[in-house]
Amino acid sequence: MRVLVTGGAGFIGSHVVESLSQAGHDVRVLDLSPWPGSDPPAPVSLRGDVRDPDAVDRALVGVDAVCHQAAKVGLGLDLGDAPDYVSHNDLGTAVLLAAMGRAGVGRLVLASSMVVYGEGLGTCAEHGEVVPGPRPVRALAAGRFEPPCPVCGQDVTPGRITEEAAPDPRNVYAATKLAQEHLAAAWARSTGGVATALRYHNVYGPRMPLDTPYAGVAAIFRSALRAGRAPRVFEDGGQRRDFVHVRDVATANVAALGREGEGLRAYNVATGTPHTVGDMAAALAAAHAGPAPTVTGEYRLGDVRHITASADRLATELGWRPRIRFAAGMAEFAGNVERAGV
Ligand SMILES: NC(=O)c1ccc[n+]([C@@H]2O[C@H](COP(=O)([O-])OP(=O)(O)OC[C@H]3O[C@@H](n4cnc5c(N)ncnc54)[C@H](O)[C@@H]3O)[C@@H](O)[C@H]2O)c1
Ligand SMILES: [Zn+2]
Repeated sequence: MRVLVTGGAGFIGSHVVESLSQAGHDVRVLDLSPWPGSDPPAPVSLRGDVRDPDAVDRALVGVDAVCHQAAKVGLGLDLGDAPDYVSHNDLGTAVLLAAMGRAGVGRLVLASSMVVYGEGLGTCAEHGEVVPGPRPVRALAAGRFEPPCPVCGQDVTPGRITEEAAPDPRNVYAATKLAQEHLAAAWARSTGGVATALRYHNVYGPRMPLDTPYAGVAAIFRSALRAGRAPRVFEDGGQRRDFVHVRDVATANVAALGREGEGLRAYNVATGTPHTVGDMAAALAAAHAGPAPTVTGEYRLGDVRHITASADRLATELGWRPRIRFAAGMAEFAGNVERAGV
């Protein structure tokens, strides 16, 4: 297939480009930014904005499917940034979908996110499966980090979220990612197209951006270690996440392109094996032979305590399996080995 990857010059997009090319697809890129360096070699690329209908029309010539990775990424905590998030992410998606309608392109893979879920599921000893609410400031200030049961206030134990969970976006960025899914579903209904939303969990690996305000925590820890400092772990380090390697995310895109069916269907892209943020800091510190992590007890309002996911749907329906194990992926990310084994 000829596949257009929007945002293909970005961290995840560039790996998606590599995987699609390896799978024999003819890949095109539309991105505001240039391709990152000469290794791997640059694909056929168009510098342009997904919000520009002319640029998108040009990029779609001869294309059979689109992998839509372009987005403004981050926390979206500052409301002043809201128009910019909505513009890149939702106006951009709407312009792209309208152009796909004009060009008769009927396949879309959308880079969605775990942030559509809000807090992960929890199990209360007394009340079973519950959705914990935001954590009260006074609990956080007192070092009580586990989210409370919304009924009785006891700590809940984390559960793995499935795609059936009700969405609960908690910031502007999250709201724009969920809106992208809704727009894609509307496009699929009205055109008969196939849309597959991939809800990426915590993606890490080569070419991950460093030291931006939005960089993932793995990149922040690595930068500290490279500067000879201990990684600073917030809360008590017990926050659970699903860390998924960027090359595994790329192969999930290849698998999603071949999905049969209709309408929009969402999939978690996760390993199914959670790790704590403290584990990750320790793995990176060990790989660097650097100072052990410092657990600071600091917290940020709006941070979610645990989000861990079931990856069963992607495995059973699309045959995808993550190949890169946590220890190998983190060692590679730390910069000590060239490439983690698959
Ligand atoms: N990094 C993560 O852990 C993560 C997790 C969940 C979802 N995602 C999603 O994955 C996708 C890729 O994210 P990333 O981490 O690679 O970010 P990134 O910033 O490295 O890549 C995004 C790319 O999109 C391009 N872009 C942004 N706005 C554009 C526009 N209007 N027109 C054309 N190009 C535009 C940027 O130039 C950049 O190259 C995004 O949709 C993001 O929401 C990322
Ligand atoms: Zn309870």
